[in-house]
Amino acid sequence: METSTPQDTAPANATGAAGGARTAGSVPTRRVSFEDSLAELPVHFAADGDLILSHFFATLSSVFPDGEEYFVRSVRHHRDRVDDPTLRRQVAGFIGQESVHGREHRVLNDRLAELGYPTQRYERLTRWALTTRERIVPPIGNLAATAAMEHFTATLAELALTDDEARRLPGPVVGDVFTWHALEESEHKAVAFDVYRAAGGSERLRIWTMKLLRIGLVVGISFLTAMSLLGDRATYRPGRLRRSWVHFRRTPMFRREVWDQLCDYDRVGFHPDDSDTEALVETWRHELFGDEGRLTPLLAGGAREGSAP
Ligand SMILES: [Fe+2]
Ligand SMILES: [Fe+2]
Repeated sequence: METSTPQDTAPANATGAAGGARTAGSVPTRRVSFEDSLAELPVHFAADGDLILSHFFATLSSVFPDGEEYFVRSVRHHRDRVDDPTLRRQVAGFIGQESVHGREHRVLNDRLAELGYPTQRYERLTRWALTTRERIVPPIGNLAATAAMEHFTATLAELALTDDEARRLPGPVVGDVFTWHALEESEHKAVAFDVYRAAGGSERLRIWTMKLLRIGLVVGISFLTAMSLLGDRATYRPGRLRRSWVHFRRTPMFRREVWDQLCDYDRVGFHPDDSDTEALVETWRHELFGDEGRLTPLLAGGAREGSAP
């Protein structure tokens, strides 16, 4: 796993030990651990034991750790091009947050592998695909891909934080992992984008990278989810797959607005902060990590901004 060094991470300026109230634009590293809560995870962990949603979220989780290590490498490569001290602090927070995401999703993926999901094979496949890309594409192209994929995660994160139905889809336990991840993706949604600009990346490369990646990601995740389903005996039980498909097509992820938000990235002059999510982020910081926050008990020794995971 990509690890953060002390130089990577920002100085502590948390206003609450548990990481609740913070200033706008801050990107705190929270040392959270979900391992104990995953011990009793059922095979079909998604809401209502749904088949396709369980495989869909397992597939998403399996591409995160190596994807996030790639994001960290892409941003770190260009860190010296950043002069703005605020952005430099946010880069440190970004590296800290993505490192903890990778670590916790690997814990989840190991648990899902025990339950029969091909998560470890998908981790290896993701690692191979991204290291191959790094050998072929210049660093600025990898940073463009990182900024584009960060818009993907930010769009899904905004959906999860604003829509109760979307947030409940992964089930109660995995849902907590995804909601925590969604909060932090929203907190750092502009960081890779701003580093891309600081590094002199063009609008043309940014937009074309997204156009290609958007299709690639949708096709890739769909294919891997289908392969995962084929390895599950429950898929072959009469009516189960069909019922699950009917439900899946009605989930909020298929809303036109979600696709439109993904495509908004193609606009010349786009910036992630055009969609103001600061109030939403503040609400969820309090909800998850305030003094009485739902996930505050999972913080190891309290959160400190920028501390190494
Ligand atoms: Fe992440
Ligand atoms: Fe991210």
